[in-house]
Amino acid sequence: MVEFQIRPYREEDHDAVREIFATGMSEYAPSLCLHVLRQPWALLALGCTFCLLLASARSLLLPILAITLLLALARHLVGCAWSAYIDRCLADDLRDIGAAYAESDGAHFWVAEADERVVGTVGARPAEADGELMLKRMAVRKDYRGLGVGTALGRTVLAFARQHGCRAVMLNTLMVQHEARALYERLGFHQHHRYVLPTIYGHLANCTVTVYRYDLA
Ligand SMILES: CC(C)(COP(=O)(O)OP(=O)(O)OC[C@H]1O[C@@H](n2cnc3c(N)ncnc32)[C@H](O)[C@@H]1OP(=O)(O)O)[C@@H](O)C(=O)NCCC(=O)NCCS
Repeated sequence: MVEFQIRPYREEDHDAVREIFATGMSEYAPSLCLHVLRQPWALLALGCTFCLLLASARSLLLPILAITLLLALARHLVGCAWSAYIDRCLADDLRDIGAAYAESDGAHFWVAEADERVVGTVGARPAEADGELMLKRMAVRKDYRGLGVGTALGRTVLAFARQHGCRAVMLNTLMVQHEARALYERLGFHQHHRYVLPTIYGHLANCTVTVYRYDLA
């Protein structure tokens, strides 16, 4: 059994925190790509391309090659879009973590430490609505998952919210983050509302964000 401890973020954790977040998020690129390819317009486009090429070339080789190329292109484009999102996060609150999660602003950032290294991260910042806290940047190194690190990080945020007299803790998840959603539901969060990202790509990919909420007494 691996022993771990949750402690406040220190400046020397900066690179490890960014690496854990970026690695954890980049794991979702393949499932995001699959999600996009399952959309009716994508299936229709692939199906029509295949049939048209089959009818015109009268050979299986060309349509199979074309579909393979289209799938590789889709994988590349989704990968690029997802990397751009991760880069935006790294350039946002994860650029200067100490400042973005300053206690004087009612925020806080924690890391989980095991085997003398950082293995998990989570942050909390006041939400737009008064008295609500946003849980952010939850991630655990792959080889330390399933050990309760994520649960402990989540509970740490809930305890912080209670101490600070918050009404609720909120967080956002994407439709492909199944482990994270299961973890939040086990912690007692409930699905508050759901929306499709209000961009062209968000609608094309049917990119759905579920907002979870935990009400504190
Ligand atoms: C979501 C995440 C933080 C969970 O971290 P974790 O430390 O594995 O969480 P826990 O160990 O506390 O709980 C995971 C649950 O999955 C189970 N599990 C078992 N093996 C597992 C494995 N190899 N990986 C993940 N979960 C596993 C655990 O038993 C536990 O269930 P239980 O509470 O019923 O026992 C982690 O999967 C992760 O970093 N994912 C990538 C980043 C991400 O999606 N972040 C969330 C952004 S909203």
